[in-house]
Amino acid sequence: MFWLLTLLAYLLGSLSFAILLSRLTGLPDPRDSGSGNPGATNMYRVAGKRLAVLTLLGDLCKGLLPVLLARALGLSPDQQAWIGLAAVAGHTFPLFFRFHGGKGVATAAGVLFGLSWPAALLAVVGWAATFGLTRTSSLAALCALALSLPLLAWQQTGLMPMSLLACLIVWRHRVNLEKLYAGKEHRFKR
Ligand code: G3P
Repeated sequence: MFWLLTLLAYLLGSLSFAILLSRLTGLPDPRDSGSGNPGATNMYRVAGKRLAVLTLLGDLCKGLLPVLLARALGLSPDQQAWIGLAAVAGHTFPLFFRFHGGKGVATAAGVLFGLSWPAALLAVVGWAATFGLTRTSSLAALCALALSLPLLAWQQTGLMPMSLLACLIVWRHRVNLEKLYAGKEHRFKR
């Protein structure tokens, strides 16, 4: 059951809502415009608020649903976290889109909501506070991650898979980190 759910989570994660919604609405592939990231932030830049919100919800559910299903089937919190990691891996390396996916933030948020709502709430508050202060989505995502992981560790929920998930997300933000360091990262207008 564990391996079946892991595979299903990966396949679900591979459904990139940014790319699918762009195709459905006749917009260019988000991987070819803005930051090039098929995620909610870049959809906001290149396609507007409505499609960004739909992308956010879709990508979030890809992380949340497999974790909830795993819990309903009686799998342990550690197994739920591995299944969540598979969903994020699907988002970042999607089978259906030549393994060229996003940075995994919204899908990871869905996983967090499934595993531990206090950690997820902390991530949301951290994201909102950082974004409010800096208007920088990547920095907000990395701060949210940094805030929520210690709480997960303290709750001893999926420490190994969640650490791998954090490494994956930081690695996917390496270009953002270079831009942040150089003071060239995109900021949204107030
Ligand atoms: O959730 C993705 C975000 O952290 C960065 O997106 O498009 O600014 O590279 P982007």
